[in-house]
Amino acid sequence: MDIEKIISEMTLEEKARMVSGFDSWWTEEYPELGVPAVQVSDGPHGLRKMYKIGEGIPDGTITSVCFPVACATAASFDVDMMEDMGHVLGKECQAEKVAVLLGPAVNIKRSPLCGRNFEYISEDPLLAGKLSAAYIRGVQAEGVGTSIKHFAANNQEFERMYGSSEVDERTLREIYFPAFETAVKESEPWTVMCSYNRINGVYSSENSWLLNTVLRDEWGFKGAVMSDWGAVSDRVAGVAAGLDLEMPGSGGANDAFIIQAVKDGTLSGEALDTAVRNILGFVKAYTENAREEVFDRDADHKKAVEIAGDCIILLKNEDRVLPLSQDEKLAVIGGFARTPRYQGGGSSHIKPSKVVSFLEAAGDVPNIVYSEGFAADKDEIDEALQADALAAAAEADKILVFAGLPDLFESEAYDREHMKLPACQNLLIDKLTATGKPVIVVLHNGSPVELPWADSVSGIVELYLGGEGIGEAAADVLFGRVNPSGKLPESFPIKLQDNPSYLNFPGTDHKVKYAEGVFVGYRYYDTKQMAVRFPFGHGLSYTEFRYANLRVSRDHFTAAEGVTVSVDVTNIGDRAGKEVVQLYVADHTGSAIRPSHELRGFAKLALEPGETKTATFTLGLRDFAYFDERLHDWYAANGTYTIEVGASSRDIRYTADVNIIGTKEKPPVISQDVQLGELFSSPYTKDYVEEKLKPQMAKFMEHSSTSESETPEMVEAVMRFLPLRGLRSFLHMTNEEIDEICEELKKLVAE
Ligand code: BGC
Repeated sequence: MDIEKIISEMTLEEKARMVSGFDSWWTEEYPELGVPAVQVSDGPHGLRKMYKIGEGIPDGTITSVCFPVACATAASFDVDMMEDMGHVLGKECQAEKVAVLLGPAVNIKRSPLCGRNFEYISEDPLLAGKLSAAYIRGVQAEGVGTSIKHFAANNQEFERMYGSSEVDERTLREIYFPAFETAVKESEPWTVMCSYNRINGVYSSENSWLLNTVLRDEWGFKGAVMSDWGAVSDRVAGVAAGLDLEMPGSGGANDAFIIQAVKDGTLSGEALDTAVRNILGFVKAYTENAREEVFDRDADHKKAVEIAGDCIILLKNEDRVLPLSQDEKLAVIGGFARTPRYQGGGSSHIKPSKVVSFLEAAGDVPNIVYSEGFAADKDEIDEALQADALAAAAEADKILVFAGLPDLFESEAYDREHMKLPACQNLLIDKLTATGKPVIVVLHNGSPVELPWADSVSGIVELYLGGEGIGEAAADVLFGRVNPSGKLPESFPIKLQDNPSYLNFPGTDHKVKYAEGVFVGYRYYDTKQMAVRFPFGHGLSYTEFRYANLRVSRDHFTAAEGVTVSVDVTNIGDRAGKEVVQLYVADHTGSAIRPSHELRGFAKLALEPGETKTATFTLGLRDFAYFDERLHDWYAANGTYTIEVGASSRDIRYTADVNIIGTKEKPPVISQDVQLGELFSSPYTKDYVEEKLKPQMAKFMEHSSTSESETPEMVEAVMRFLPLRGLRSFLHMTNEEIDEICEELKKLVAE
């Protein structure tokens, strides 16, 4: 396909038609110009490929493998596994002739209530960025594209198509952008999907700063931007702002606006050509890489089980209540054991070809008694079901409760109303713990839930929404065939009210203020030193790991030089296991208000009993820096930072202090309002003001001193917040003198 030739041969009308979908899933075609139509499909954890109307099976969707949903794969902290899963999905796209898989979804989990949290990766941008970059690498290595979504600041479902996310730039740059940035820079997704919402009043779909300045000019994105489905408000503004493809097509309505705007000069022909060029880019890439593939659903099911096993998190394991032994008498309670909840509702809903429940998977285990206990699909107490469960529990050595959120609680298009499990489940768990027997709760949920009984149960296993293989994977973990290695990709607060967005979620007047700024998730809980139910990064194993020998390659370095950090981890238990080593950085320079520490690296190590491996991390400017709005750049102040290495954000095993040197100091902003303290402490202005002002100020203070005991330190403290213009009143300087000082100072800071 010669894209430039095609563009030169297209009429204005053809171009206007090319920049929106033919329908919900297909791009336009121009066979006479050699442009085929290509299909896009949801994902991201399988293929929700829709048949063309009139083709295929009645409800229009193919069956596909349903891998664990992003909330679960995030818990793996496993970059290689994500890439591997991406390869499988990419091959399936080839087999199904899908050009672009609509994922990954990387929006940050700001509030546990966001209805789509189950589709998103983490509250932490580094984890979301690294895992999504790996997924994209895997899928695209198979010659099909991805569409990282939803760009940007789309962190709730309430008013998602109209609401404005009111976020300051630093917060966008540090929290809500980096997952996209990392994926774009590391893995070059073929497409980016812009979000529905507005950001500070401007729709993402017509936000030139977002789509052109940040995404393309700064990050170097070369692909196409498509709209989320129905995210277009003003299509002409969208084309001008860098939105290439409107999805679904508008049935021609917006083509007319585009044609008119180009004719009357309000939209440049080049902007339209750029949009066409970007769309043809992925059409061409797919067409040239398309090949025959086989969609092997049985092999994929095995893969789904294996991946699910890598994602399960052992949150609590008192007195080593797990793993279970086949000889124990087990009461298995809860409908999720028979019908697992393994994905959420909405556009990502996959139709799997096979789902195996825990009860089926554990079929050959003797001594299991199953009792439903509660209706898994609603929040309703059923006394008869409870009584039956208690009777089953009375006969058992250990009680397993398969708890979780009903489908209705978590879906695209609306948020959760609270963070609780249904009362019928909490009540039954309380009654079961009252028996005094060990109770193990196995959770099926896409987002954190309050766990009021956490201290009374012996074990808690978080399955999240683990895909079609979750029943088998749960059995593997519970019976010890697989050693759990998942870690929480988000904090579990004790209660909803603890969450930093609580006072501002979901907003009013069509605006939601991200007032907590960069203090999202553990960045808030840890800085406030608040108790949480389970911290970010937490997850246990059936074996134990010892950390030792933290090394830093140097302890003084410039931000550009960076530093290499390594730590040895040994499996000191008696079974093979995997550990996720986490590295956090804490800034002690006091140069900005910052979280107490931030995740800057992680590595998943597989270790045989007795084996030692080394995790190595390379840290550079961005790992120490914050985004300084005044400099409009990343800034790592000179001074001390602590490197922390550990097994969760609250389980830091070793620390090392390092020092950044050589960063150019931030100069004060010079005007008549600059405060004297800023001038006295800045290396740019210190000498000048010492010489020029200090003697006069000292004299003045001598005369105006209010108490005998006033010390020079007190004088200095008093003067700290005095603006330069204050010298008019206190030192009787003239306006001319102050202007002159200002000019001198401006010269000094410009040097
Ligand atoms: C969702 C997207 C999805 C699209 C197509 C939208 O409602 O927000 O994530 O890819 O529909 O189904």
